[in-house]
Amino acid sequence: MTFDYNHPFLNGETKKLWIGGEWVEARSGETFECMDPSRGEAATLVSRGGPDDIDAAVAAARSALEGEWANWTPVDRQALMHKVAQAIDDRFEDLARIESIDMGAPLSRTALFRAWVKRTFNYYAALAASTRGDVFSNSAPGKFMAYSHKAPVGVVGAIIPWNGPMITQFWSICPTLASGCTLVLKPAEEAPLSTLMLAEIMHEAGVPAGVINVVPGPGPTAGNALASHMGVDKINFTGSTLTGRKIIEASASNMKRVALELGGKSPDIVFADADLDAAATGAAMACFANTGQICFAGTRLFVERSIYDDFVERVAAVGKMLKVGPALSDDSQLGPLTSQAQFDRVNRYFNAANADGARLVTGGEPLDIGGGYFVPPTVYADVSNDMTIAREEIFGPVLSAIPFDTEEEAIALANDTVYGLGGGVWSRDVGRVHRVAHAIKTGMVWANCYGVTDPAVSFAGTKQSGYGVKGGPYAIEEFQTAKTVWINMG
Ligand code: NAI
Ligand code: MG
Repeated sequence: MTFDYNHPFLNGETKKLWIGGEWVEARSGETFECMDPSRGEAATLVSRGGPDDIDAAVAAARSALEGEWANWTPVDRQALMHKVAQAIDDRFEDLARIESIDMGAPLSRTALFRAWVKRTFNYYAALAASTRGDVFSNSAPGKFMAYSHKAPVGVVGAIIPWNGPMITQFWSICPTLASGCTLVLKPAEEAPLSTLMLAEIMHEAGVPAGVINVVPGPGPTAGNALASHMGVDKINFTGSTLTGRKIIEASASNMKRVALELGGKSPDIVFADADLDAAATGAAMACFANTGQICFAGTRLFVERSIYDDFVERVAAVGKMLKVGPALSDDSQLGPLTSQAQFDRVNRYFNAANADGARLVTGGEPLDIGGGYFVPPTVYADVSNDMTIAREEIFGPVLSAIPFDTEEEAIALANDTVYGLGGGVWSRDVGRVHRVAHAIKTGMVWANCYGVTDPAVSFAGTKQSGYGVKGGPYAIEEFQTAKTVWINMG
C-alpha cells in the first residue's frame, strides 16, 4: 500500500522550534526523527528542544505578557480568536492530514475534529468578552468597599501527549487567548507536527510574537524544565499518572498552579434492560476508538450476568468488523498505535492477560500491516477486577469484560480503582441511570452513550485521574487569578 505523502509542511527540511514568532533551531543543534506509525518510518526530522530552548520560550512568553498584548481589550482578543478559528478552518485538511501521518489516527477520525475546534474557539471567544469580577459586601469596621477582578494568571506551560494533539492543544491555546495569558506548549516527541504547523497559522492570523511558543522535546529534559521553571505561573498537563506526579514535584520550585488530566481505567456498566444493540456498539467504541488511546476509554466492561456471554460476543463482533489500517487509507476506521513503545506495551498486556488466565474472545496478537504498529480490537472475557489488565491503563484497544450480579456489586467494582476519569451506564430504567451515575466516583459519566464532549461542558477527573477543569464556564478561571482591591471610603 502506498499513499501520497506530499504535504506542504513536509518539505524535507528539519522542523524547527517556534519561539518569539520565529522558527529557530534547538540551541544544542540536536534533532530527532518524528515517526509515522502507519509505516514505522520517519516522517521528518524535528529540532530537539531542551532546557535552554525552554528558557528562551519562557522569556519570549514573559516579554509578550508584559508588552503590547497586555493592552488588548477582551473584544480585541475575541476578534483575534474568530480570525484564528477561520485561518485554522481554511487549512484544516492539511492539519488533519499532518496529524494522521504523525500519530496514526485515520483521516476518518482527524477530519471529525474540524467542527469541534471551531466550537472550542467560538465558546472561548464568547468567554473572552464576558468575564466579570465581584463586589463583596463586607463587615470590616469602618467603611470599605472590596471588589475583585480577574487578571490573567501569566505565563502558562502546557505539556501535552501524543494521542490527540488536535484536540488537547486547544484546551490550552483557547483559554490562553481568551484570558490574555501567554503560552509555551511542549508537544510530545511522538506527535509534534500539527502543533508546529498551527503555530505559524496562528501567527499569520495575527497572534502576536511570543504569545504562543512551541518547543517539542523529551519529557525528562524539556518537559521537566518547563514544569520546574521559575518563570512559569501555571502548568496544564495531560498525560500519564506517573508523569503527573513528577509534574507536581517539579512545580514545587515556585509553587506554580497545576492542572492535571491523567490516566484512567474507566468502567462501562451494562444492565440487562438496556438497548443492547446500542450498548454493544457504544461499549465497543468506548474502548476501541482511537485504537484505545483515549484517557477516558471505557476499558472495564461490567455486564449483568444474565446477558454476559451473549453481550460479550456482540461487542467482539463489533470489534471484528472495524477496519484497521494505515492512517491515510480512506477505509481505515482504526489506525496503528502511535509508537513502537506503545506497541511493545500493548503486546506485554496481551501476555499478562494470558498469564492471568483471561479468556481471549477476539484479537490478542499484533497485526502485520506494512511495518506499522498495528494491533486489533481485543476482548478478554472472564476477567476479574484484580487482574493486571483490569487495573492498569493499557492505552490500546483492549477490553476487559467482567460479569456482575447486582447494581451494588457493579458500583463497588466500578469504584475499585485508583482512577476517576470517565464511566458509562447503559439501562432503560431512568432511576437506575441516575443512581449509578451519582455513585460512580469519576469526573464524568455517560448514560446510554459514551465519550461525548463539548467545550461548553466541564471535563475533569477525580482521584488519580487528576484535577483542574477543562471546558464549561469554570475553565477560563483556571487561567485567571482573582485580584481583590480594598477601597477606604471613610
Ligand atoms: P507521558 O505522560 O510520560 O507523556 C506525556 C507528555 O509528558 C509528553 O509530552 C512527554 O514528553 C511529557 N513528559 C514525560 N516525562 C516528563 C517529565 N518528567 N516532566 C515533564 N514532562 C514530561 O506518557 P508516555 O510515556 O508518552 O506514555 C506512557 C503511558 O502513559 C501510555 O501508555 C498511557 O498509558 C499513558 N498516557 C496517558 C495519557 C492520557 O491522556 N491519559 C496520554 C499519554 C500517555
Ligand atoms: Mg510521529
